[in-house]
Amino acid sequence: MSASSFALLGTGAYVPERVMTNEDMAKVVDTSDDWIFSRTGIKERRIAAEDEQTSDMATAAAKVALEDARLTPDQIDLLIVATLTPDLPMPSTACIVQAKLGLPHRAACFDVSAACSGFVYALDTAWAMLQSGRYRHALVIGAEKLSTVLDWSDRTTCVLFGDAAGAVVIGPTPEGSKAEIVGTKLYSEGENTELLWIPGGGSAHPAPGPDVPPRFMQMKGREVFKFAVREMEDAARDILEQCGVSADEVDCVVPHQANLRIIDSIAKFLKLPSDRFFVNLELYGNTSAASIPLAIDEARRSGRIKDGSLSLLVAFGAGLTYGSALVRW
Ligand code: UT7
Repeated sequence: MSASSFALLGTGAYVPERVMTNEDMAKVVDTSDDWIFSRTGIKERRIAAEDEQTSDMATAAAKVALEDARLTPDQIDLLIVATLTPDLPMPSTACIVQAKLGLPHRAACFDVSAACSGFVYALDTAWAMLQSGRYRHALVIGAEKLSTVLDWSDRTTCVLFGDAAGAVVIGPTPEGSKAEIVGTKLYSEGENTELLWIPGGGSAHPAPGPDVPPRFMQMKGREVFKFAVREMEDAARDILEQCGVSADEVDCVVPHQANLRIIDSIAKFLKLPSDRFFVNLELYGNTSAASIPLAIDEARRSGRIKDGSLSLLVAFGAGLTYGSALVRW
Protein backbone atom coordinates (compact mmCIF):
# COMPACT_ATOMS: atom_id res chain seq x y z
CA MET A 1 0.00 0.00 0.00
CA SER A 2 1.63 3.26 -1.12
CA ALA A 3 0.93 6.55 0.70
CA SER A 4 0.86 9.78 -1.32
CA SER A 5 3.23 11.63 1.00
CA PHE A 6 5.65 10.86 3.80
CA ALA A 7 6.56 13.02 6.78
CA LEU A 8 8.98 13.14 9.68
CA LEU A 9 6.70 11.79 12.43
CA GLY A 10 9.15 11.97 15.33
CA THR A 11 12.66 13.05 16.25
CA GLY A 12 15.11 12.10 18.99
CA ALA A 13 18.69 12.74 20.02
CA TYR A 14 21.31 11.53 22.44
CA VAL A 15 24.57 13.10 23.58
CA PRO A 16 27.12 11.46 25.90
CA GLU A 17 27.42 12.79 29.43
CA ARG A 18 31.07 13.90 29.33
CA VAL A 19 31.54 17.54 28.32
CA MET A 20 34.94 18.57 26.97
CA THR A 21 35.31 22.36 26.91
CA ASN A 22 37.79 24.37 24.85
CA GLU A 23 39.74 24.91 28.07
CA ASP A 24 39.93 21.12 28.52
CA MET A 25 41.08 20.86 24.88
CA ALA A 26 43.88 23.35 25.55
CA LYS A 27 45.30 20.83 28.06
CA VAL A 28 45.55 18.21 25.28
CA VAL A 29 46.89 20.23 22.30
CA ASP A 30 48.44 23.68 21.81
CA THR A 31 45.22 25.67 21.33
CA SER A 32 42.96 28.14 23.15
CA ASP A 33 39.29 28.88 23.71
CA ASP A 34 39.82 32.15 21.85
CA TRP A 35 41.25 30.45 18.72
CA ILE A 36 38.62 27.69 18.59
CA PHE A 37 35.63 29.94 19.30
CA SER A 38 36.64 32.79 16.99
CA ARG A 39 37.45 30.45 14.05
CA THR A 40 34.54 28.03 14.46
CA GLY A 41 31.93 29.11 17.03
CA ILE A 42 32.56 25.92 19.06
CA LYS A 43 32.77 26.16 22.88
CA GLU A 44 32.49 22.52 23.90
CA ARG A 45 31.77 19.02 22.63
CA ARG A 46 30.65 15.67 24.10
CA ILE A 47 32.93 12.64 24.32
CA ALA A 48 31.47 9.13 24.58
CA ALA A 49 32.59 6.74 27.32
CA GLU A 50 34.97 3.97 26.29
CA ASP A 51 32.22 1.34 26.58
CA GLU A 52 29.59 3.51 24.85
CA GLN A 53 29.50 2.61 21.17
CA THR A 54 27.96 4.30 18.13
CA SER A 55 25.13 1.74 18.24
CA ASP A 56 24.36 2.61 21.89
CA MET A 57 24.02 6.31 21.07
CA ALA A 58 22.00 5.47 17.94
CA THR A 59 19.66 3.23 19.96
CA ALA A 60 19.12 5.88 22.64
CA ALA A 61 18.25 8.54 20.03
CA ALA A 62 15.97 6.12 18.16
CA LYS A 63 13.99 5.26 21.32
CA VAL A 64 13.20 8.95 21.83
CA ALA A 65 12.21 9.37 18.17
CA LEU A 66 9.90 6.32 18.31
CA GLU A 67 8.23 7.64 21.44
CA ASP A 68 7.84 11.07 19.80
CA ALA A 69 6.24 9.43 16.75
CA ARG A 70 4.04 7.26 19.03
CA LEU A 71 5.19 4.14 17.23
CA THR A 72 6.49 0.87 18.62
CA PRO A 73 9.61 -0.92 17.29
CA ASP A 74 7.49 -3.64 15.63
CA GLN A 75 6.01 -0.99 13.29
CA ILE A 76 9.44 -0.16 11.77
CA ASP A 77 10.30 -2.10 8.62
CA LEU A 78 13.31 -0.07 7.45
CA LEU A 79 16.32 1.15 9.46
CA ILE A 80 19.20 3.14 8.00
CA VAL A 81 22.16 4.30 10.08
CA ALA A 82 24.44 6.99 8.64
CA THR A 83 27.86 6.82 10.24
CA LEU A 84 31.57 7.01 9.50
CA THR A 85 32.35 5.40 12.86
CA PRO A 86 30.53 2.04 12.78
CA ASP A 87 30.93 -0.22 15.84
CA LEU A 88 32.63 -2.82 13.60
CA PRO A 89 33.73 -3.14 9.94
CA MET A 90 31.11 -5.91 9.70
CA PRO A 91 28.18 -6.25 10.29
CA SER A 92 26.47 -2.90 9.81
CA THR A 93 25.73 -0.75 12.85
CA ALA A 94 22.09 -0.80 11.69
CA CYS A 95 21.88 -4.57 12.37
CA ILE A 96 23.35 -4.05 15.84
CA VAL A 97 20.82 -1.27 16.50
CA GLN A 98 18.02 -3.51 15.19
CA ALA A 99 18.81 -6.06 17.89
CA LYS A 100 19.22 -3.43 20.63
CA LEU A 101 15.88 -1.82 19.73
CA GLY A 102 14.07 -5.13 19.21
CA LEU A 103 12.94 -4.34 15.67
CA PRO A 104 11.18 -7.14 13.80
CA HIS A 105 13.26 -9.66 11.81
CA ARG A 106 11.54 -8.63 8.59
CA ALA A 107 12.99 -5.10 8.81
CA ALA A 108 15.60 -4.08 6.22
CA CYS A 109 18.66 -2.68 8.04
CA PHE A 110 21.82 -1.20 6.55
CA ASP A 111 24.37 1.61 6.95
CA VAL A 112 25.00 4.56 4.66
CA SER A 113 28.52 5.95 4.25
CA ALA A 114 28.51 9.61 3.19
CA ALA A 115 30.39 11.13 6.16
CA CYS A 116 28.86 14.43 7.35
CA SER A 117 26.27 14.35 4.54
CA GLY A 118 25.23 10.88 5.71
CA PHE A 119 21.95 11.87 7.33
CA VAL A 120 20.69 13.68 4.21
CA TYR A 121 21.79 10.70 2.08
CA ALA A 122 19.96 8.28 4.40
CA LEU A 123 16.85 10.49 4.44
CA ASP A 124 16.77 10.54 0.63
CA THR A 125 17.27 6.75 0.48
CA ALA A 126 14.58 6.01 3.06
CA TRP A 127 12.11 8.36 1.39
CA ALA A 128 12.65 6.69 -2.01
CA MET A 129 12.18 3.24 -0.45
CA LEU A 130 8.97 4.33 1.29
CA GLN A 131 7.69 5.87 -1.95
CA SER A 132 8.25 2.52 -3.68
CA GLY A 133 5.35 1.23 -1.58
CA ARG A 134 7.39 -1.69 -0.22
CA TYR A 135 8.06 -0.16 3.23
CA ARG A 136 5.79 1.70 5.62
CA HIS A 137 7.80 3.23 8.48
CA ALA A 138 11.52 4.04 8.48
CA LEU A 139 13.96 4.94 11.22
CA VAL A 140 16.82 7.10 9.95
CA ILE A 141 19.69 7.64 12.38
CA GLY A 142 22.91 9.65 12.21
CA ALA A 143 25.35 8.51 14.91
CA GLU A 144 29.07 9.04 15.46
CA LYS A 145 31.80 8.22 17.92
CA LEU A 146 34.27 10.53 16.19
CA SER A 147 36.52 10.67 19.27
CA THR A 148 37.84 7.25 18.17
CA VAL A 149 39.03 8.45 14.74
CA LEU A 150 40.64 11.72 15.83
CA ASP A 151 44.37 12.25 16.09
CA TRP A 152 44.52 13.74 19.58
CA SER A 153 47.90 15.31 18.80
CA ASP A 154 46.60 17.20 15.73
CA ARG A 155 45.14 20.55 16.81
CA THR A 156 43.89 21.28 13.28
CA THR A 157 41.27 18.49 13.52
CA CYS A 158 40.68 17.23 17.07
CA VAL A 159 39.25 20.55 18.33
CA LEU A 160 36.43 20.48 15.78
CA PHE A 161 34.53 17.25 16.40
CA GLY A 162 32.32 15.53 18.99
CA ASP A 163 30.21 12.41 19.62
CA ALA A 164 26.39 12.26 19.38
CA ALA A 165 23.37 10.66 17.72
CA GLY A 166 20.12 11.93 16.24
CA ALA A 167 17.18 10.03 14.78
CA VAL A 168 13.95 10.57 12.87
CA VAL A 169 10.96 8.35 12.16
CA ILE A 170 9.45 8.68 8.69
CA GLY A 171 6.02 7.41 7.75
CA PRO A 172 2.83 8.26 5.86
CA THR A 173 1.57 11.82 6.48
CA PRO A 174 -1.16 11.59 9.15
CA GLU A 175 -4.68 12.49 8.06
CA GLY A 176 -5.38 16.22 8.27
CA SER A 177 -1.66 17.13 8.46
CA LYS A 178 0.25 19.02 5.77
CA ALA A 179 3.60 17.60 6.99
CA GLU A 180 5.75 16.05 4.28
CA ILE A 181 9.21 15.60 2.87
CA VAL A 182 9.02 18.09 0.00
CA GLY A 183 12.28 17.24 -1.79
CA THR A 184 15.86 16.02 -1.49
CA LYS A 185 19.01 16.44 -3.59
CA LEU A 186 22.36 14.65 -3.33
CA TYR A 187 25.77 15.29 -4.92
CA SER A 188 29.36 14.03 -4.71
CA GLU A 189 32.79 14.97 -6.06
CA GLY A 190 35.00 11.90 -5.75
CA GLU A 191 38.11 13.58 -7.16
CA ASN A 192 38.45 15.50 -3.87
CA THR A 193 38.71 12.42 -1.64
CA GLU A 194 42.03 13.42 -0.09
CA LEU A 195 40.85 16.79 1.25
CA LEU A 196 39.14 15.04 4.14
CA TRP A 197 39.81 11.38 4.84
CA ILE A 198 40.99 8.58 7.08
CA PRO A 199 43.82 7.16 4.98
CA GLY A 200 44.49 3.93 6.93
CA GLY A 201 42.40 1.05 8.26
CA GLY A 202 40.50 0.11 5.09
CA SER A 203 41.32 -2.56 2.48
CA ALA A 204 43.93 -0.29 0.83
CA HIS A 205 45.98 -0.20 4.04
CA PRO A 206 44.45 -2.75 6.40
CA ALA A 207 47.13 -3.30 9.03
CA PRO A 208 48.86 -0.76 11.24
CA GLY A 209 52.59 -0.53 10.47
CA PRO A 210 55.50 1.80 9.72
CA ASP A 211 54.56 2.42 6.06
CA VAL A 212 50.83 2.43 6.58
CA PRO A 213 48.97 5.76 6.87
CA PRO A 214 47.17 6.43 10.16
CA ARG A 215 43.57 5.46 10.71
CA PHE A 216 42.81 8.96 11.96
CA MET A 217 40.99 11.79 10.27
CA GLN A 218 43.13 14.18 8.22
CA MET A 219 41.86 17.37 6.64
CA LYS A 220 42.98 20.28 4.51
CA GLY A 221 40.84 22.73 6.46
CA ARG A 222 41.02 25.80 4.21
CA GLU A 223 40.17 23.86 1.04
CA VAL A 224 37.29 22.09 2.78
CA PHE A 225 36.04 25.44 4.04
CA LYS A 226 35.88 26.88 0.50
CA PHE A 227 34.22 23.74 -0.84
CA ALA A 228 31.68 23.79 1.99
CA VAL A 229 30.63 27.36 1.32
CA ARG A 230 30.36 26.93 -2.45
CA GLU A 231 28.61 23.58 -2.45
CA MET A 232 26.21 24.21 0.42
CA GLU A 233 25.11 27.35 -1.41
CA ASP A 234 24.53 25.27 -4.57
CA ALA A 235 22.68 22.56 -2.67
CA ALA A 236 20.42 25.14 -0.98
CA ARG A 237 19.70 27.03 -4.21
CA ASP A 238 19.01 23.84 -6.21
CA ILE A 239 16.54 22.32 -3.77
CA LEU A 240 14.61 25.59 -3.52
CA GLU A 241 14.45 25.81 -7.33
CA GLN A 242 13.53 22.13 -7.66
CA CYS A 243 10.63 22.55 -5.21
CA GLY A 244 9.53 26.00 -6.48
CA VAL A 245 10.10 27.59 -3.06
CA SER A 246 11.76 30.97 -2.37
CA ALA A 247 14.37 31.27 0.38
CA ASP A 248 12.09 33.68 2.19
CA GLU A 249 9.44 30.96 2.62
CA VAL A 250 11.86 28.84 4.68
CA ASP A 251 11.12 29.20 8.39
CA CYS A 252 14.20 27.44 9.72
CA VAL A 253 17.43 26.42 7.98
CA VAL A 254 19.21 23.55 9.71
CA PRO A 255 22.72 23.41 8.26
CA HIS A 256 25.44 20.87 9.00
CA GLN A 257 26.99 22.18 12.21
CA ALA A 258 30.67 22.47 11.23
CA ASN A 259 31.64 26.12 11.47
CA LEU A 260 29.66 29.28 12.26
CA ARG A 261 31.57 31.21 9.58
CA ILE A 262 30.39 28.72 6.94
CA ILE A 263 26.80 29.07 8.19
CA ASP A 264 27.04 32.88 8.14
CA SER A 265 28.18 32.88 4.53
CA ILE A 266 25.22 30.69 3.52
CA ALA A 267 22.88 33.09 5.33
CA LYS A 268 24.34 35.97 3.29
CA PHE A 269 24.03 33.99 0.06
CA LEU A 270 20.36 33.15 0.74
CA LYS A 271 19.78 36.74 1.95
CA LEU A 272 18.22 35.39 5.13
CA PRO A 273 18.76 36.83 8.63
CA SER A 274 20.96 34.66 10.84
CA ASP A 275 18.07 34.06 13.25
CA ARG A 276 16.42 31.98 10.49
CA PHE A 277 19.27 29.42 11.04
CA PHE A 278 19.30 26.88 13.84
CA VAL A 279 22.80 26.60 15.31
CA ASN A 280 23.90 24.43 18.24
CA LEU A 281 27.54 23.76 17.29
CA GLU A 282 28.68 25.89 20.24
CA LEU A 283 27.65 22.98 22.51
CA TYR A 284 28.50 19.93 20.42
CA GLY A 285 31.04 20.82 17.72
CA ASN A 286 30.85 18.94 14.47
CA THR A 287 29.16 15.57 15.03
CA SER A 288 29.21 14.58 11.34
CA ALA A 289 26.17 12.44 10.39
CA ALA A 290 24.57 13.17 13.79
CA SER A 291 24.77 16.93 13.36
CA ILE A 292 21.55 17.63 11.42
CA PRO A 293 19.24 15.17 13.25
CA LEU A 294 20.61 16.38 16.61
CA ALA A 295 19.92 19.97 15.55
CA ILE A 296 16.41 19.32 14.21
CA ASP A 297 15.45 17.51 17.40
CA GLU A 298 16.65 20.46 19.50
CA ALA A 299 14.98 22.94 17.16
CA ARG A 300 11.64 21.12 17.49
CA ARG A 301 11.85 20.74 21.25
CA SER A 302 12.79 24.40 21.74
CA GLY A 303 9.88 25.56 19.53
CA ARG A 304 12.12 26.89 16.73
CA ILE A 305 10.51 24.34 14.41
CA LYS A 306 6.73 24.23 14.82
CA ASP A 307 4.03 22.15 13.11
CA GLY A 308 3.55 23.67 9.66
CA SER A 309 7.11 25.13 9.55
CA LEU A 310 9.19 24.66 6.41
CA SER A 311 12.80 23.57 7.09
CA LEU A 312 15.77 23.49 4.75
CA LEU A 313 18.44 20.92 5.68
CA VAL A 314 21.82 21.33 4.01
CA ALA A 315 24.96 19.27 4.51
CA PHE A 316 28.50 18.69 3.21
CA GLY A 317 31.22 16.24 4.12
CA ALA A 318 34.01 13.88 3.11
CA GLY A 319 33.73 12.29 -0.30
CA LEU A 320 33.37 15.05 -0.97
CA THR A 321 29.61 14.82 -0.63
CA TYR A 322 26.84 17.34 -0.16
CA GLY A 323 23.08 17.46 -0.21
CA SER A 324 19.90 19.18 0.85
CA ALA A 325 16.31 18.47 1.83
CA LEU A 326 13.13 20.49 2.29
CA VAL A 327 10.78 19.31 5.01
CA ARG A 328 7.32 20.58 6.01
CA TRP A 329 6.53 19.71 9.66
O1 UT7 B 1 32.24 18.30 8.23
C1 UT7 B 1 33.31 18.79 7.48
C2 UT7 B 1 34.46 19.07 8.41
N1 UT7 B 1 35.37 20.05 8.04
C3 UT7 B 1 35.21 21.40 8.22
O2 UT7 B 1 34.17 21.90 8.49
C4 UT7 B 1 36.45 22.23 8.08
C5 UT7 B 1 36.28 23.50 7.33
N2 UT7 B 1 37.39 24.36 7.65
C6 UT7 B 1 37.41 25.12 8.76
O3 UT7 B 1 36.46 25.15 9.51
C7 UT7 B 1 38.63 26.01 9.00
O4 UT7 B 1 39.49 25.94 7.88
C8 UT7 B 1 39.39 25.59 10.29
C9 UT7 B 1 38.56 25.96 11.52
C10 UT7 B 1 39.68 24.11 10.30
C11 UT7 B 1 40.70 26.34 10.37
O5 UT7 B 1 40.48 27.74 10.33
P1 UT7 B 1 41.35 28.66 9.36
O6 UT7 B 1 40.94 30.05 9.62
O7 UT7 B 1 41.18 28.13 7.96
O8 UT7 B 1 42.81 28.42 9.91
P2 UT7 B 1 44.08 27.85 9.15
O9 UT7 B 1 43.96 26.39 8.91
O10 UT7 B 1 44.37 28.74 7.99
O11 UT7 B 1 45.20 28.09 10.27
C12 UT7 B 1 45.58 29.40 10.71
C13 UT7 B 1 46.62 29.25 11.81
C14 UT7 B 1 47.79 28.35 11.42
O12 UT7 B 1 48.95 28.90 11.96
P3 UT7 B 1 49.97 29.74 11.02
O13 UT7 B 1 50.39 28.78 9.96
O14 UT7 B 1 49.16 30.89 10.49
O15 UT7 B 1 51.05 30.13 11.98
C15 UT7 B 1 47.47 27.06 12.15
O16 UT7 B 1 48.63 26.31 12.47
O17 UT7 B 1 46.04 28.68 12.97
C16 UT7 B 1 46.83 27.56 13.41
N3 UT7 B 1 45.92 26.58 14.02
C17 UT7 B 1 45.60 26.62 15.33
N4 UT7 B 1 45.97 27.43 16.32
C18 UT7 B 1 45.44 27.21 17.55
C19 UT7 B 1 45.27 25.57 13.43
N5 UT7 B 1 44.52 24.91 14.33
C20 UT7 B 1 44.71 25.55 15.52
C21 UT7 B 1 44.19 25.35 16.81
N6 UT7 B 1 44.58 26.20 17.79
N7 UT7 B 1 43.31 24.37 17.10
